[in-house]
Amino acid sequence: MCYNYLMKKILLSGVKPTGRPHIGNYFGAMKQFVNLLSSGDFDCYFFIADYHALNFIQNAEEMRQNTLDLAIDYLAIGLDPKKATLFKQSDISAHTELSCIFDTIVTMPYLMRAHAYKDAVAKDKEINVGTFNYPVLMAADILLYDTDVVPVGQDQKQHVEYARDIAQKFNSIFGETFKLPEPLIIEGVATVPGIDGRKMSKSYDNTIPLFASREEIAKAVMSIVTDSGAGIPENVFNIHRLFKDGKELKLFYEKNIGKYKILKEALIEDINAFIEPLRERRVELAKDEKRVIEILKESAVKTNEKANKKLVEVKRAIGVIY
Ligand code: ADP
Ligand code: TRP
Repeated sequence: MCYNYLMKKILLSGVKPTGRPHIGNYFGAMKQFVNLLSSGDFDCYFFIADYHALNFIQNAEEMRQNTLDLAIDYLAIGLDPKKATLFKQSDISAHTELSCIFDTIVTMPYLMRAHAYKDAVAKDKEINVGTFNYPVLMAADILLYDTDVVPVGQDQKQHVEYARDIAQKFNSIFGETFKLPEPLIIEGVATVPGIDGRKMSKSYDNTIPLFASREEIAKAVMSIVTDSGAGIPENVFNIHRLFKDGKELKLFYEKNIGKYKILKEALIEDINAFIEPLRERRVELAKDEKRVIEILKESAVKTNEKANKKLVEVKRAIGVIY
């Protein structure tokens, strides 16, 4: 393994195309994508984790639409395909090939410690092998690009730790091949609450979509569960502070104690003011789906070259090529 220390650090992250992104995805992860890309300090890779999504979306038309939608979302938040590599996981077969190689060094008891697996067991869900193996494929996604940093929300921290462990184990068996990646988690937005106070998540139906219309924002905000009592409604405040400076906001909430309607109306205005320009940009981008497909196609060529190079290094290390 040979690194050029004059080169920029490598940053990689992905999102599953499992439905409309929400403000939790944005503040927890996607906003960092944009900021870190514009810092100019990183060589950035952002991808659409469609094989991860296949555990949840098993309908071709839905998969196609969600994938295209997420590519448009990436562009709309400001990920410039000229500055970052934007690609679709399934276009780069080295991800699944590397995952298959990792399967041989990862044990079942180790994967049984994963939060997502344990949750599924606790809920008595039938678990497919893809879900069980989810951390292994994710480790392949990350390690294939010699990634240094992985910006994610708190819920993905364990997955990045799995990637580090797998890299370490591989290196100790086959020799130094993989870099150890670090998660990048921003305090304060690590877990954005949903309108019911639990973690905002597509699977809990408690989201405020990132590109929501004004009506959708109003409907979601009006249904934020407010804690009884006359104090500051925590659930409303905790979402509001994403959009307004904390000090000023605290004063506003203190002045309007108990006046939930006024507080929620202010929140609707502030969310809408933030989302409006993103929404408008998205409408424009969505008019040219062909261009979006073209961007993914072009980047697949370049990304395959890079990923396949690393895969050759791995194959040499394990002794399957001469
Ligand atoms: P969901 O739970 O809605 O399905 P994903 O698993 O697609 O979200 O997450 C995509 C990215 O957004 C990940 O980096 C994840 O950590 C982050 N994320 C998701 N929900 C939240 C949240 N409520 N707060 C902060 N970050 C989040
Ligand atoms: N597991 C991530 C999520 O649910 C998506 C993902 C897949 C990812 N592969 C990744 C994130 C690699 C960062 C790096 O949100």
